Amino acid sequence: MREEVVLITGANGEIGHGLIHYLSNKGYPIVALDVNPLDPALKSEVLTAIVGDILDQVLLGRLVVEHKIRTIYHLASILSTKAEYNPETAHRINVEGTLNLLRLAVEQSNWQGQSVKFIYPSSIAVYGLPSLQAKQNSGKLAESEYLNPTTMYGCNKLYCEHLGRYYNHYYRQLAADSNSSLSVDFRALRFPGLISAETIPTGGTSDYGPEMLHAAAKGENYNCFVRPDATLPFMVMPDAIRSLIMLQEADRSRLTQNVYNVTSFNPDANEIREITLKAFPGAEINFVPDVKRQGIVDTWPNDISDAAARNDWDWHPEYDQKRAFDEYLIPAIKARYHARGD
Ligand code: SER
Repeated sequence: MREEVVLITGANGEIGHGLIHYLSNKGYPIVALDVNPLDPALKSEVLTAIVGDILDQVLLGRLVVEHKIRTIYHLASILSTKAEYNPETAHRINVEGTLNLLRLAVEQSNWQGQSVKFIYPSSIAVYGLPSLQAKQNSGKLAESEYLNPTTMYGCNKLYCEHLGRYYNHYYRQLAADSNSSLSVDFRALRFPGLISAETIPTGGTSDYGPEMLHAAAKGENYNCFVRPDATLPFMVMPDAIRSLIMLQEADRSRLTQNVYNVTSFNPDANEIREITLKAFPGAEINFVPDVKRQGIVDTWPNDISDAAARNDWDWHPEYDQKRAFDEYLIPAIKARYHARGD
């Protein structure tokens, strides 16, 4: 009998770190896949760590025969800023990679005779507001509004939301042998910017939030690449992990959509600076906006509505802005760099 496992792609990333800690504490056997060797700190928490590419069909084929995969957290992705430097490569990883994983889920569900859960982090990057004025006046955006992304990453995430919905409800609907009860159970979260005390993101556009805090804690000067008034929704990593788990565990019959917004607070960059300076009074943080990265932030919403998630699976963040900084980020970041002697 093959052991039932949870597959996590992009295991080395920020969300991967938090998710592996959580699931391994709960006793789940984890197969971790990442293009880089798994962080040694995570090694003891997983059943198997595989170094490999989600575009490698042979590798994925081997995974299918070696494991009984009940749930897939498909986290691997090239984030928004990095993707703009090489959009076609980003497309291959973000879209073809996701397609490969969806096909793997189909094969697993056919073989197991039951559906496989596919949990997918999408992003506020799927939105594209036409002007700063629209951004300021549009309030909390629902899942269906302003879906005109201006980045390759945003286009990829929006399309993969649709791909997941297709594999869940319509895959091979005309084929004589298709069996809709064996579908991929696709569930996606649209995350705001995420801030973790343990890791720093790479290649994102909301990175100024976490970068500012971590730089201050390390005693480094920071030039913030957006204007002081730049506003985005944010959430801390423990809430992001909770939302992934809650959506994974949610009763399917209560889910009215495949894609759900989740969020918590939405400070402007100046507020993040003020909070950071209060916690680290010696820090030096200046605003040196990068026109292009600011341009991306200008198309992303100031805030999003997570009403559907609250209604369908009782979502609510545990950390509002005050708690996020006072009880999680600042003490945990201080402890982290203090322990390392930075
Ligand atoms: N935080 C991501 C980025 O900035 C958005 O999902 O690319």
